[in-house]
Amino acid sequence: MIPSQSPILFPQGGIAVVVGAGGGIGAALLHGLEARGDFARVVGCGRTAAIGLDLLEESSIAAAAAQLRDLGELRLVIDATGFLHGGGFTPEKSLRDLDPAHLAHAFAVNAIGPALLMKHLLPLLPRRGKAVFATLSARVGSIGDNRLGGWYAYRASKAALNQLVRTAAVELHRRCPEAACVALHPGTVDTGLSGPFAKGGLDVQAPDEAAGRLLSVIDRLGPSDNGGFFDHRGAAVPW
Ligand SMILES: NC(=O)c1ccc[n+]([C@@H]2O[C@H](COP(=O)([O-])OP(=O)(O)OC[C@H]3O[C@@H](n4cnc5c(N)ncnc54)[C@H](OP(=O)(O)O)[C@@H]3O)[C@@H](O)[C@H]2O)c1
Repeated sequence: MIPSQSPILFPQGGIAVVVGAGGGIGAALLHGLEARGDFARVVGCGRTAAIGLDLLEESSIAAAAAQLRDLGELRLVIDATGFLHGGGFTPEKSLRDLDPAHLAHAFAVNAIGPALLMKHLLPLLPRRGKAVFATLSARVGSIGDNRLGGWYAYRASKAALNQLVRTAAVELHRRCPEAACVALHPGTVDTGLSGPFAKGGLDVQAPDEAAGRLLSVIDRLGPSDNGGFFDHRGAAVPW
């Protein structure tokens, strides 16, 4: 489990941001944060959100960061963006299915986009007090946990994301010793991303339930969790 078991409060009056606020889990996170009222303001970013942002356009990320900086003290960023299928691409079952365009798109959305979010948003986190950047990764991005194979582009791009998170966490700690930059696995959640692939059953969570669990993990994050990879129950996931 994550070392910090008791909630560690965010300083009052801060801003919370959900990137990918139009997605299944992102929308539930936005509603969950709004309902709790712990932050002075909760803001959604995304391709269709109030603050527009496309992960494939760094200039749009820089412009969104400039707007967020003007809103107040940024305490929490949750990146709920991601790509598994779409645009004619489906997860690969075998090496013979590998497609450079599919691999490039998965890396662009799942790894490079979140890296650019860290580039532009981590410098906005305050030097003192709790601050969190959490990106939604996936257990299938774990190299140590890979027993089934397949899903090359998604797995590899999430593994790259995990390394980017860990590397940025080392740098973040030097300026913000009380902050945490983490990768979170939400579990299997009933959204458009998982729909065609998730087998029904008790393990499939509704987006609201998953959001509640993720927010509970974020509540318990402390500086000693910086650079970690945790699931929706707070258990560490192997790299
Ligand atoms: N659902 C699951 O079972 C599950 C399991 C493990 C991990 N995850 C991870 O959880 C995260 C959220 O997944 P979800 O299930 O909520 O999926 P989703 O409903 O498909 O949402 C994905 C989000 O990513 C955004 N996005 C995609 N490309 C983008 C781009 N170029 N620029 C900006 N935003 C972009 C989408 O924006 P638009 O709204 O503009 O399309 C949408 O908000 C993903 O990282 C996923 O890998 C999900």
